[in-house]
Formats: sequence, C-alpha cells, structure tokens
Amino acid sequence: MPPEEILFGRSGAMISVRQKVQKVLGTDVPILIQGENGTGKGLLAQYIHSRSAMSSGAFVKVNCAAIPGALLESELFGYEKGSFTDAHTSKPGYVEMAHRGTLFLDEIADLDLSMQAKVLQLLQDGHFSRIGDKQERQAEIRVICATNRDLRMEIEAGRFRHDLFYRINVISINLPSLRERREDVALLADYFLGQLNARFERNAPAFSEENIESLSSREWRGNIRELENVVARYAILGSLDSPESERPPKRFSTAPYRMDHDGTIPLKRIAKQAVRRMEGSLILNALRENKWNRRKAAVALNISYRALIYKIREAGLSPKSNRKRPSTDLPLDHAAGMD
Ligand SMILES: Nc1ncnc2c1ncn2[C@@H]1O[C@H](COP(=O)(O)OP(=O)(O)OP(=O)(O)O)[C@@H](O)[C@H]1O
Ligand SMILES: [Mg+2]
Repeated sequence: MPPEEILFGRSGAMISVRQKVQKVLGTDVPILIQGENGTGKGLLAQYIHSRSAMSSGAFVKVNCAAIPGALLESELFGYEKGSFTDAHTSKPGYVEMAHRGTLFLDEIADLDLSMQAKVLQLLQDGHFSRIGDKQERQAEIRVICATNRDLRMEIEAGRFRHDLFYRINVISINLPSLRERREDVALLADYFLGQLNARFERNAPAFSEENIESLSSREWRGNIRELENVVARYAILGSLDSPESERPPKRFSTAPYRMDHDGTIPLKRIAKQAVRRMEGSLILNALRENKWNRRKAAVALNISYRALIYKIREAGLSPKSNRKRPSTDLPLDHAAGMD
C-alpha cells in the first residue's frame, strides 16, 4: 500500500475524495466506489478497510465479473456437504470469511439479477445460508462495492436492481480519471520509478522535466495502471516510448491517396501508381547492386535492356535517387553513359 500522500495525490479532484474518505473511516456503512479502469478503486477499498473499525477482520475481495453466476453463489455463501455432486465437504463462503471484516464486491455491475437478489438480502439484515443448509447465519460485515459502469444506466437498461443500488450506495466515492488530475502524474511517476527500480534492481535515472511534461500530457485511458506500466517499461528499457510505436506493421499500407473530384476513389489509378512505386524501388535496388550497370541490372531483374531503360525514365531514377522513395514525378535525370 503506498503512503497516503501518494494514494491521494495533491490535485483538487483528489482532495475532495480524501476528505470524504476521512469521514467514512470510522463507520461501517456500505460504500460504492466508482471510476474508470485503473483509477485505484481496489487500492482505495483496501485502504478504507485497513483504517476502519473492521480492520482486525479479513479483507475479502470477490471479483463478480470473473466468477460465473452458478459458481458465484457457492463461493459467496458456501455450501454444505452433499448439497451438490462435488460438495464432498462443507465449505464456508466469502461472506463468512469476511465476518467482522470487509467484503469487497468488485465489478458489482456484473452480478446477474438472481445473485443481485441474494446480495440484497444479505445487505438488508446480514442473513444468509450456505447452499444446502436450512440454518440461517448472520454475518457482521462491511460491504464495499466497486464498478466502472454507470449503475444508473444499468438500472434503466433493466440490468441492475434499483433497490440494491440504494443499499450499496449509502456513500459513493467517485475516483477521477488520471486526465482529470494531471497535476498528480509527476508525483505518481516518481513514486513508481523508485518502487520499480528497486523491484527490478535497475537504476533508471530520475525523470527530466521534459519527461514529466510529456507524461502529463498523455491521454491515460488506462489511468494509473497504464502509468505504472509505462514507468515499468522505462525502468527496464530506459525509454518512455509508448508501445504504439512497437505495433506490428499494418498489412496494407494506407498511404494517402487522392479522391477524384466526384468523391470516388480511383482504384485502377491507385493500383497502377502503387505498382510503379514498388517497381521503381526494386529497379533502384538492382541498379545499385550492379553499380548502375543497366545491362547487368536488366539480367538481374529478368527484363530486357530496352524495357529497363524505359522504366528508368518513367520512374525518373538516377544515381542520386532516394532508396526508399524513388520519385515517379521528378523529371528524368538521365543516367546515360553509366554502362
Ligand atoms: N494512488 C495510487 N498510488 C499508487 N498506486 C496506485 C494508485 N492508484 C492505483 N495504483 C495502482 O494502479 C493499479 C490499478 O489500481 P486498482 O487495481 O486499484 O484500480 P481499479 O480502479 O480497481 O482498476 P480496475 O477497474 O481495472 O479493477 C494497481 O497496480 C495499483 O497498485
Ligand atoms: Mg479493480
């Protein structure tokens, strides 16, 4: 867990989050943490638990999106021996494990409607039963939920129970995206660099002002998690380049082409130009490899000498031509007398 000044940062957006969190620490009311992916919802839930009256109990995290509905019920509430084919022994669920501690329901929007009803009942009076057990049990738990979805929209779409929403949403904390707290990028980047240098036993130099400027201006769709990954790459590879530049080449080039006046894309012409450009580059290579001896180059290309001369003219090739992009537009720079 990072120190509090790192956890909350210094930005205005996070100061109000911090004030709200301070107020709920001494209580055991349900809390709903909302925010985009990677904004630190899981970390904040852990922090709240560690400072709450329930801190002597366990912090039990349940990822509602990762466990399929049927399995989730037995994982959450436990089961009695013989209650289904594989139940060879009795087993307590997450709810019991979190007794006098915190049950963290992550990705709560992914609970299916039947599980929502069961969780609602648990939240109403703390009662639950293990599967296959008639006995009702009582759990004393603090529930923290997290989601990156807009639950009101989920309710409107009929995917989330509004009564459950009101139960879990006694206090809601909205974590801002990293874009909304750019002032904190430097603080977080420096913190991660210290941590990651130590973890990877590296000695990557501290970020320069330009580094921080460039980091602070990024989009950060993956928020703090993405920043952490970028700093990890910097610690290991010594570069702040984004993986964008390492993308595999596109299969087809989307080199700019001109539309015709009527808005159509003249495919035949584009194809012809592309073939010419490629031919030009192959011919240039052959000429260079043969020290501009056009007879030898023609043999290497398996075309006639006359055909090669014609193509050299057409492509405007000369010994000064640029290897990568032989121009098809420049006037012919005669390569006469090179044989
Ligand atoms: N304030 C912070 N200080 C240091 N590390 C942080 C902070 N916030 C988040 N992190 C780190 O960023 C990563 C993402 O955080 P976390 O998993 O808590 O986000 P999340 O909002 O739960 O994301 P998701 O919605 O994808 O589950 C973690 O590695 C976490 O340690
Ligand atoms: Mg999370």
